[in-house]
Amino acid sequence: MDNSAVNDSGVDWARLRSAAVEAAASAYCPYSGLRVGAAGLCSDGRIVIGCNVENAAYGVALCAECTMAGQLLLTGGGRLAAVACRGGDGQLLMPCGRCRQILFELGGPDCLVDTPDGALSMRELLPFAFGPDDL
Ligand code: THU
Repeated sequence: MDNSAVNDSGVDWARLRSAAVEAAASAYCPYSGLRVGAAGLCSDGRIVIGCNVENAAYGVALCAECTMAGQLLLTGGGRLAAVACRGGDGQLLMPCGRCRQILFELGGPDCLVDTPDGALSMRELLPFAFGPDDL
């Protein structure tokens, strides 16, 4: 492994980003044309991926982070430690508001997300979040 790809958090961001770009290639996005891929590093070290799945009823579209959440649970569960979202051309994309809530649920406040400002925690991306502790 190229150690330059691992930052202080111990996350291999280069690997996570390329997994997200690869996932974006599977997107079903005939309406927006925006391919989105998400890749998550799980607490046990495996990587789960997802892509957006659109629908003729536009509002029914599933974001890449949503299908990644399904894969997390279907392939052994655990927690999300770090997440990268990328477009089909490799561009960095940020999770929408709804997806931040989903990432907060499955990764908690310490889950890291790839952002234009580097790795930021879900605590920073969704401050004062409503979460499992509130129920
Ligand atoms: N999309 C995602 O997959 N994730 C996000 O966090 C934001 C938006 C998708 C949904 C839709 O298929 C396309 O991007 C355009 O909104």
